[in-house]
Amino acid sequence: MKKVVIAGGGVLGSQIAFQAAYCGFDVTIWLRSQGSIGRTQPKIDKLRQTYIDAIKLMDSPEGSANWCRGIADADSFNPAECLDKVEKAYSGLKLELDMAKAAAGADIIIESVAENVKDKIAFYEALAPLMPAETILCTNSSTLLPSTFAKYTGRPDKYLSLHFANAIWKNNTAEVMAQAQTSKEAFDAVIAFANDIRMVALPVNKEKNGYLLNSMLVPFLLSGLDLYVNGVSDPESIDKAWKYGTGAPRGPFEIFDVVGINTAYNIVLQYQKVPGLFSPLLRKMMMPYNFKGMIEVFKKMIEEGKLGKSAGQGFYKY
Ligand SMILES: NC(=O)c1ccc[n+]([C@@H]2O[C@H](COP(=O)([O-])OP(=O)(O)OC[C@H]3O[C@@H](n4cnc5c(N)ncnc54)[C@H](O)[C@@H]3O)[C@@H](O)[C@H]2O)c1
Repeated sequence: MKKVVIAGGGVLGSQIAFQAAYCGFDVTIWLRSQGSIGRTQPKIDKLRQTYIDAIKLMDSPEGSANWCRGIADADSFNPAECLDKVEKAYSGLKLELDMAKAAAGADIIIESVAENVKDKIAFYEALAPLMPAETILCTNSSTLLPSTFAKYTGRPDKYLSLHFANAIWKNNTAEVMAQAQTSKEAFDAVIAFANDIRMVALPVNKEKNGYLLNSMLVPFLLSGLDLYVNGVSDPESIDKAWKYGTGAPRGPFEIFDVVGINTAYNIVLQYQKVPGLFSPLLRKMMMPYNFKGMIEVFKKMIEEGKLGKSAGQGFYKY
C-alpha cells in the first residue's frame, strides 16, 4: 500500500493521517468543506508539536515511563530520525476537498466521519463510484457495526472496521474487525497495514459491538461501580480486591479517574440507552444493575468538579 486516504479530519481522522504520514505513507485527508480545512489544519499543527514533545520526552531520563510505542521502539530509538519523520509527515500531508481526486489511486480509505448512521451512508454512497476497484475501505466507527454500511460501499468484500484508540502515537492498538462479507485477503491486508503504521493489530474475526477492549472493559468497570452504588463496599476496597486478587495494576475506580468522570458518565448513559452494546449474555447479567445510582454518583461528582485524575480529584485525591 502507498496511498492512504482518511475521510474526515476530526480528532481521530487527523491523528490517523499524521501517524500514517509519519510512517512514510502518501496521505491525503478528504474534507467536505473549506470550513473543515480551517478546523483540521490547526489539529495537524498541534499534532506536529505533540510528536516533537513526545520524542524529546522519550529522549530524556523520564523517557521510559512515557514511551510512545507508535513513534519508535526503545531498542532502535533514534531521536533525530524520528524528528525528521515528523517534519516529512507534516510537509507531506495533503488536504483535499474534491472526493474524486482524493479517491483516485487510493490503496486504502479510512472513513473517520461523524458517528452518525445517515452521514456515514451518504458518504459511502458518494464515494462508492469514485474508488478504484481494488481500494480497501475501512471504518473507524467506535459503536456502529460495518454490516450496517457494507451494502452502500460497492465493495462489501473489501470493507471492514479498523478501529483506533485516541492518542494513537502512544495508545497504539488497531482493532481490525470483519463483517460477514469481508474477504480474508482484505482482512489480512488491513492487519498488515495496521502493523506498518506501528499499531499493534488485533484481529476481531466477527462483528462485535465494543470490539475487544470495550467488550471487556465496560462490563468490568460497571461491575465495580455497581458494587459501590449498591453499598456493597467502598471504591478503595473494590480496587484492592481486583488488584491484589489478580495482580492487575489498577482497579475500576482508578481507571474511571484516568478516563475522566465526564466520559464515564456518558458511557453509563450510552449503555443504559443502548443495551445492545452488551452481548446477549451480559445484557441478561446486567439487567439488575443500578444504572440510576451510577448516574447519580457521576452527576454529583461532575457538579463538585471531581472530574478525575486530570482535575486533581475523582474517586481519589491526586
Ligand atoms: N474520538 C475518539 O476518541 C474516537 C476513537 C476511536 C474512534 N472514533 C471514531 O472516529 C470517527 C470520527 O470521530 P472523531 O472523534 O474524529 O469526530 P470529530 O467530530 O472530531 O470529527 C468528525 C469529522 O467528520 C466530518 N464530518 C462530519 N459530518 C460529516 C459528513 N456528513 N460528511 C463528511 N464529513 C463529515 C467533520 O467535519 C470532522 O472532520 C467516529 O466514527 C468515531 O466513533 C473516535
